[in-house]
Amino acid sequence: MVYEFSKSKKMYDEAKEYIAGGISSQIRINDPAKIPMFFTHAKGSKMWDVDGNEYIDYIQGMGPNLFGHSPDFISDLVKKEMDRGYVLAGQFDKEIEIAKMALELIPIKNATARFAISGTEIDQLLFRVMRGYTKKNKIVKFEGHYHGWMDSVNYSVHPPLDLAGDENSPNPIPESTGMDINTSKNLIICEWNDEEKIENVFNKHSDDIAGVITEPILGNTNCILPKKGYLEKVKSLCETHDALLAFDEVITGFRVAAGGAQELLKITPHIATYAKSMAGGFPMSMIVGEKQIMEEIGNGNVYHGGSFNSNIMSTAATYATLKYLQDSKATFYENLNKKGEFMMKSLKSVSKSLDSDLHVQGVGSLLSISFTNKEEIINWRDHAKNCDENKYSLFAYEMLKNGIRLSSNGRMHISSAHTQEDLEKTISSTEKVLSKI
Ligand SMILES: Cc1ncc(COP(=O)(O)O)c(C=O)c1O
Repeated sequence: MVYEFSKSKKMYDEAKEYIAGGISSQIRINDPAKIPMFFTHAKGSKMWDVDGNEYIDYIQGMGPNLFGHSPDFISDLVKKEMDRGYVLAGQFDKEIEIAKMALELIPIKNATARFAISGTEIDQLLFRVMRGYTKKNKIVKFEGHYHGWMDSVNYSVHPPLDLAGDENSPNPIPESTGMDINTSKNLIICEWNDEEKIENVFNKHSDDIAGVITEPILGNTNCILPKKGYLEKVKSLCETHDALLAFDEVITGFRVAAGGAQELLKITPHIATYAKSMAGGFPMSMIVGEKQIMEEIGNGNVYHGGSFNSNIMSTAATYATLKYLQDSKATFYENLNKKGEFMMKSLKSVSKSLDSDLHVQGVGSLLSISFTNKEEIINWRDHAKNCDENKYSLFAYEMLKNGIRLSSNGRMHISSAHTQEDLEKTISSTEKVLSKI
């Protein structure tokens, strides 16, 4: 099969006439095909584009599709529940059920939850709660971490090194024009995975810090695990300085374990946010925190609204997902993680046998591919200095032409729908492509 993208290209040209930039989310401009692709449908591990090409998909909606595309057990419940209405602007029974199940699965104890629609939105609520509860203003955000596209936090996600400033006191680099850059005054940018640097931040700003937000496993840069003791150190600094530790588990929640990164790393933050995997592909997000902190929302001091919050379709999809995980969590994660481990081991072995600099790191079903000679990438600056992004783009393009859809930033999401045959085809395509590039 010769993969070509002429119909996608034609549709993209047409879309640009009517949709700004021809896309609805910026990252899609970086599609490995070099143009945003148009798809007809997707099921399980596979997707089909308008040119009739079939792909094994590792983007999986950038993470939400924990069970692959449109699993029947979710579609069935959503279709059934939709007969009760779509948006009620009122509460209904299943909200209580999903809150109960989520709180049973998540390690933070004595907690309550609140629901919204997207990861971006729930992180905004998080900042409000952190500030409202502590009566302090500054939030510490790490380089290379992403917490949504809003003005308050869309800084230094992938800052160019020539602008990023001194590693001991990084500049807040806005990711967009048009942002209210006054917001940067309440953000302290810090290098991640380095105890001394976060300690210095607390020494310098001790009384002003409302909290620290971190991806507990850095999914937005190389899928990096925290160094041993690092998150414990950050938590202890927060507690010493009456600040809150927040985990952004938008990627890791319900993916790396039923209890997310907290369960895997055996550390609980004071408060955490969730989205992607919790509804198997439907728009849903959640904040979970210790009761006394969440009371800041509960008593209405922190205002939170949203017409589409806990709509029937998203709530039903969340119910189906959490019920499934609750009933089968031991075997589900064991099988899913085995697939990820097989992929990681096989990619490493192909890379070694071909003397390539293809590098893979991550955990369970969450992996990241890059091209570097380093053994391990430990944070954003390490990535920026040592990873060859152009080579990765070329690799992802060639993989696409072999029927394997990889994300533009290297992150792979393996779903429970990926079969052994899918994984083996991916490995043999990698071998073929690495021999070529
Ligand atoms: C860690 C993290 N937080 C927040 C977000 C924002 O989520 P959403 O795209 O649903 O707004 C993302 C999105 O990729 C993310 O990776």
